[in-house]
Amino acid sequence: MKIRGQNKRKLTRRQKMCKCGCGTKTRQIEVKPLYSPMEGTIVGTKRMTENEKFFEIRLENVERFDYLPGQFVQFSILGIGEAPISISSTPTKKDKSTFEVCVRKAGVFTKAMHHLDLGDKIGVRGPFGRPFPIDSLQGNDLIFVAGGLGIVPLRSLINFVMDKRRDFGKVTILLGCKAPKERLFTKEIEEWSKRTDITYACTVDKADPDWKGNVGVITTLIPGVDIDINRTYAVVVGPPIMYKFVIAELIKKGLSPRQIVLSLERHMKCGLGKCGHCQINDKYVCQDGPTFTYDEIKGMEEAL
Ligand SMILES: Cc1cc2nc3c(=O)[nH]c(=O)nc-3n(C[C@H](O)[C@H](O)[C@H](O)COP(=O)(O)OP(=O)(O)OC[C@H]3O[C@@H](n4cnc5c(N)ncnc54)[C@H](O)[C@@H]3O)c2cc1C
Ligand code: FES
Repeated sequence: MKIRGQNKRKLTRRQKMCKCGCGTKTRQIEVKPLYSPMEGTIVGTKRMTENEKFFEIRLENVERFDYLPGQFVQFSILGIGEAPISISSTPTKKDKSTFEVCVRKAGVFTKAMHHLDLGDKIGVRGPFGRPFPIDSLQGNDLIFVAGGLGIVPLRSLINFVMDKRRDFGKVTILLGCKAPKERLFTKEIEEWSKRTDITYACTVDKADPDWKGNVGVITTLIPGVDIDINRTYAVVVGPPIMYKFVIAELIKKGLSPRQIVLSLERHMKCGLGKCGHCQINDKYVCQDGPTFTYDEIKGMEEAL
């Protein structure tokens, strides 16, 4: 599959004017678009929980921002730094000049991002990374397993599938989080849960007095799922601790490692396969991933 936007290694040329102010164009300098941040403007925000904030970002002078579910951008704030954040909107949405993200307060950069509001500017590089393998998923049954913040990148793929519903088989969405108040995208998820063409289940590790749903870790939802092992892919995104247990349950249900797709998070700097910060054995998570089939990484001790 061609990854639009990712391989634009073509150099753009900027012209420099003569310093004396005479208006003469003196020379050209070359700028690689993937190294130089584009200017983003915050055009929508929503506080989702105490620690998570939603942003819609418009790229200035970019009519159409091409990306695919599973890809991420590198945000930058002057004087603070950069951080990789998954794209949470679907490329099938109407307005192609904006994209959406959800950011959890973790440290210096993400706290600074939480202070941004409507009209504020942010640097954006990307999109980066290998998307979810949509070509392989097409025509098959899908089980989405999202733990905590894992729903952020998965929302992009789930809404993509919803918009192209006929191209996919049965869809099951399993969500898990620590507590009911930590659930993200609650209105949207309620809409999904009402659809007759998907199976939906949610669980929390610890209930509050108003919670009437399942209680327990996300793996407790898997035994109840009806799986046709000949035509099912599971797409799993969540905290590192979750993967081992979810994978074991899915294998128990009869899925092979090639039918399990994961998204890995690693510390990243360049996002371009240059600095080595995200390296696991011979893989650069920023370029070879962040999405992998379990088959591709199962022998690597550091991966999970
Ligand atoms: C491909 C990718 C996609 C991501 N998508 C999202 C997203 O959609 N929303 C979101 O909120 N966060 C996402 N993250 C995590 C986010 O990049 C980190 O939380 C952020 O870089 C932390 O920067 P900071 O300066 O706020 O925190 P720091 O001060 O750098 O660190 C604070 C804490 O966060 C931990 N941390 C730092 N970087 C990472 C990282 N890359 N992964 C996990 N923990 C980290 C540190 O170990 C430390 O404990 C993603 C990371 C990757 C690699
Ligand atoms: S982040 Fe630099 S090589 Fe992956």
